[in-house]
Amino acid sequence: MTQAWSPNSWRSKPALQLPEYPDADALAKTEARLASFPPLVFAGEARALKDHLAAVSRGEAFLLQGGDCAESFAEHGADNIRDFFRVFLQMAVVLTYGAAKPVVKVGRIAGQFAKPRSSAMETKDGVELPSYKGDVVNGIEFDEESRIPDPERQIMAYRQSAATLNLLRAFAQGGYANLNHVHQWTLDFVKNSPQSQQYQELASRITESLDFMRAIGMDPENNSNLRETDFFTSHESLLLGYEEALTRDDSITGEPYATSGHMLWIGDRTRQPDHAHVEYCRGVKNPIGLKCGPSTTPDGLLELIDILSPDNEAGRLTLIARFGHDKVGEHLPALIKAVEREGKKVVWSCDPMHGNTISSDSGYKTRPFERVMGEVNSFFDVHDAEGTIAGGVHVEMTGKDVTECTGGARVVSDSELGDRYHTHCDPRLNADQSIELAFLVADRLKQAGRSAPAEEKAA
Ligand code: PEP
Ligand code: CO
Repeated sequence: MTQAWSPNSWRSKPALQLPEYPDADALAKTEARLASFPPLVFAGEARALKDHLAAVSRGEAFLLQGGDCAESFAEHGADNIRDFFRVFLQMAVVLTYGAAKPVVKVGRIAGQFAKPRSSAMETKDGVELPSYKGDVVNGIEFDEESRIPDPERQIMAYRQSAATLNLLRAFAQGGYANLNHVHQWTLDFVKNSPQSQQYQELASRITESLDFMRAIGMDPENNSNLRETDFFTSHESLLLGYEEALTRDDSITGEPYATSGHMLWIGDRTRQPDHAHVEYCRGVKNPIGLKCGPSTTPDGLLELIDILSPDNEAGRLTLIARFGHDKVGEHLPALIKAVEREGKKVVWSCDPMHGNTISSDSGYKTRPFERVMGEVNSFFDVHDAEGTIAGGVHVEMTGKDVTECTGGARVVSDSELGDRYHTHCDPRLNADQSIELAFLVADRLKQAGRSAPAEEKAA
C-alpha cells in the first residue's frame, strides 16, 4: 500500500546532496518565514503546463527547456534576463518554424539555485573546503566563511526568483514577445554570425507571413497568440526544505503544488526510489522531470514511473535523457522499449549537456559543441528507429557571449575558454551556439514531420 504523503514526509527518508546547516534553529525559522510568503507561481499555471506537455507526449508540440546551470545572486540584472529571454525566443521561433508545431517554453530560471555536487569537498592549492552548492546554500568564493550553508540565502533566492519572474511575465505578456519584433530579438554581438544570417532570413519569412495575415484581418493587435507567449519556469527540486516551505494547497482542487516554479525535476544523483527527493516530488501535482543517466535501468525506470506518475497522466512526467554522445545509442533504446511495453505516457526530452562534460587541455570544464549535437542527433535517431517521439531538448545556455563550450560555427577554441568563462557551475552554450543548436534540431523536426505521413500510410 502506498504510504501517506505530506509536504514533509521526505524528512523521514534518506537524502543525498542536502546541505548540513550548522544552526538548525535558524534554518527552521527561515523555513517558517518562507512558508508564510506568497506563492511564486499558481497551481493553474502548473496545470496549464501539464496540458502543454501532454500535447508534447502525443507529438503535437515540442518542448524547449533551458537556462543557466546555476543562477547567481551576483548576476541578477535586467540585461541578463532580457538577453536570455530573447535568445530563448529566437530558439523557439526557429523550432516552431521547423517543426510547424507549438513550442512549449520552459526556462531553467527564477529558482535554479541549488546544485548537487560530485564531491562534497573541493581542494585548491592544498586547502580543502566544502563544495559550493549553489547560491541558495553557500557562497562560491573559496574561503571557509563563504562555504558555510546560510539559511538567509533561501530568502534571497526567493526574492530574486520573484523579481525575475515578474520581469519574465512582463516580457512574455507585455509586448516584448510580439512576433512583429522577430527581427529585433537579435543581439548586437551575434549580428554577423552565420546563425544570425540564417535567423534573419527566417525572421523575414515570418514578417512576410504576418503581412499576409494582416492583409486578411489577423494581426498582433487583435490576436494574442501573435502578441504574447506562454513562458514557464523550472528548476531542480534539490533543496527540499525550501520546496516544502513553498508547497501550497491549490484553492480550486485542494491538491498540493510546489509553488517555487511551474515544473520541478529530479537530478541524476538524487533519483533513488526510496529516498527523500522522489518522496517529495511524488506528492506535488506539478509536471515533474526525471533525469535519466547511464545508471538508469529499464526496471529502475519503470519503478520510478509508477511512483511519480501512478495515474499515468500524460504531461505529468518528462524523462530527460542525459547519457553522453557516445552512450545514448547503448542506453536509450532499452528504456524506450520498457516504457512502450508498459504503455507509460511520458515526454522524452534530450539533455545533451550533462553527459558531455570534459576537462579541457587548458584546465576548464567544457563541453565540445559537436558532442552536444552528436547526442541530440543520436537521440533523434533512436526515437526514429523505435517509432517514438523525440519530444524536447533541455540545455544549459545563456544569452551572453560567453566562452564556456568549445566549437560551434563561430568556433570557440580551447585556448579561448578563459576569455569569458563566467558560469557559476557547468559550461553553457552561448547565444550563437544556442541558435545553431535550435537550427539543427529544427532540421531534425522537419525530417520527422516529412517521414510521419508515409509511416502512417504504411501502418
Ligand atoms: C543539472 O541539470 O544542472 C544537473 C546537475 O544535471 P544532472 O542531474 O543530470 O547531472
Ligand atoms: Co548543470
